[in-house]
Amino acid sequence: MTNNRVVIFDTTLRDGEQSPGATMTHEEKLEIAELLDDMGVDIIEAGFPIASEGDFRAVSEIAERSKSSMICGLARAQLPDIDRCWEAVKHAKQPRIHTFIGTSPLHRAIPNLTMDEMAERIEQTVSHARNLCDNVQWSPMDATRTEWDYLKLVCEIAIKAGASTINIPDTVGYTAPRESAELIRRLVSEVPGGEDVIWATHCHNDLGMATANSLAAVEAGARQIECTINGLGERAGNTALEEVVMAMKVRNDIMPFETGIDTRKIMHISRRVATVSGFNVQFNKAIVGKNAFAHESGIHQDGMLKNAETFEIMRPEDVGLSGTSLPLGKHSGRAALRAKLKELGVEVGDNQLKDIFVRFKDLADRKKEVYDDDILALVSTTGDGEEHLELVNLKILCGTGGPAQATLEMAVGGEDKTAEAQGDGPVDASFKAIRVLHPNKARLEIYQVHAVTAGTDAQATVSVRLEEDGMIATGQSADTDTVVASAKAYIQALNRLIVRREKVGPGADVREVSYKEH
Ligand code: KIV
Ligand code: ZN
Repeated sequence: MTNNRVVIFDTTLRDGEQSPGATMTHEEKLEIAELLDDMGVDIIEAGFPIASEGDFRAVSEIAERSKSSMICGLARAQLPDIDRCWEAVKHAKQPRIHTFIGTSPLHRAIPNLTMDEMAERIEQTVSHARNLCDNVQWSPMDATRTEWDYLKLVCEIAIKAGASTINIPDTVGYTAPRESAELIRRLVSEVPGGEDVIWATHCHNDLGMATANSLAAVEAGARQIECTINGLGERAGNTALEEVVMAMKVRNDIMPFETGIDTRKIMHISRRVATVSGFNVQFNKAIVGKNAFAHESGIHQDGMLKNAETFEIMRPEDVGLSGTSLPLGKHSGRAALRAKLKELGVEVGDNQLKDIFVRFKDLADRKKEVYDDDILALVSTTGDGEEHLELVNLKILCGTGGPAQATLEMAVGGEDKTAEAQGDGPVDASFKAIRVLHPNKARLEIYQVHAVTAGTDAQATVSVRLEEDGMIATGQSADTDTVVASAKAYIQALNRLIVRREKVGPGADVREVSYKEH
């Protein structure tokens, strides 16, 4: 690997998925891993195997299916964690164990270890991981708030014990570009053995500086960036993959670094991650926001028509946006739909195509022109398979100045049932009717509506996030009728809670294992 090659380490499925509410299903994790692999991500951090049976299963299966990407699992500085992690990643073509411990004063206080005891633990756990796996990454969590002398010492210990990548996390998004660069520069040059390992940067975005901090670290000698699609992650998120990759591509004149990413795949994976995580991308988000390539003002449009470079520093095609494609309509057949899906980078099997086609026809009957975003919304709202609850019919009676009334028919375990409920508006009334037919204690944490395209016949995409006994599930649905989309999204989230409850048993907390040391 040449010295200007930057390794892209994607942690959407670990640090991103760990974000409260971003929980993905097993199938969704496999799909995202496949997309990451296809787009040229060097290393996929697929999960935290000891956290739950589900995490273990996902990491193992992603490892088994991996093609080109290295598959990494996370483990705390404890031998059982590391063993479990190895069990999960060992079938990958290229496995990696990533082990970490919090080294800052605040984090050292949690396991109540002295500096010497922690140093000993690092030596013991990294050596153990290295005995299992040829490729070991080690991270001093909260590195940017760790005393310099201690940070230097523990990095040296981890290198001597066999770690070949040392990752420097800015766990709480506290650093700034100049400091980020200075820290990496000193580590590379002052830690004994530092020039023989890869230094990685792992930034959080609490002060909005994750991209800048990561790029500054690369300029100072880091050669691995840890990032997530759409910047998904706890609190303000992680460094956004699309931002660092495109920054190095567009400004290669001043940041002469290369990655292995096929940038034309960015848009599709961004949309899929937004859908499956339930975290929509803000409209003005760099690179992948809906408005990132929209030029609305007259001056801009005039300039764009004369020469696209007037206001565009990158071409929409470079990130996988095709600006010229024509909408489909009610006369479009299955072949046209398949071709459109292919153009949008969506691979579907025959059965899924059949399902999407039925829904496409239904939509085309109600909406004159079906745009790319409509198609993507249809794809992202196909069901998870056999559903316990299914919406059959919904009638709403509402007007100004009084409660709305919903009459809702729903299949519950295959049996059609009807309920009526009143509510503060049609959505509230529908959700209440659903609760009459399927009583539950789930708390509605998030309810979001987005118009997929322009126009009053536009589809609405509704995202719902529910929480019940520490378990979180999201649902998403699109329909030209906002209330129907809402009811379907709510029902999908309830179905997922049912599946999850069956898997983990009553009262279990799916995110039981945290990053705290015992
Ligand atoms: O932010 C962080 O410190 C982490 C570590 C576990 C690498 O995600
Ligand atoms: Zn992190």
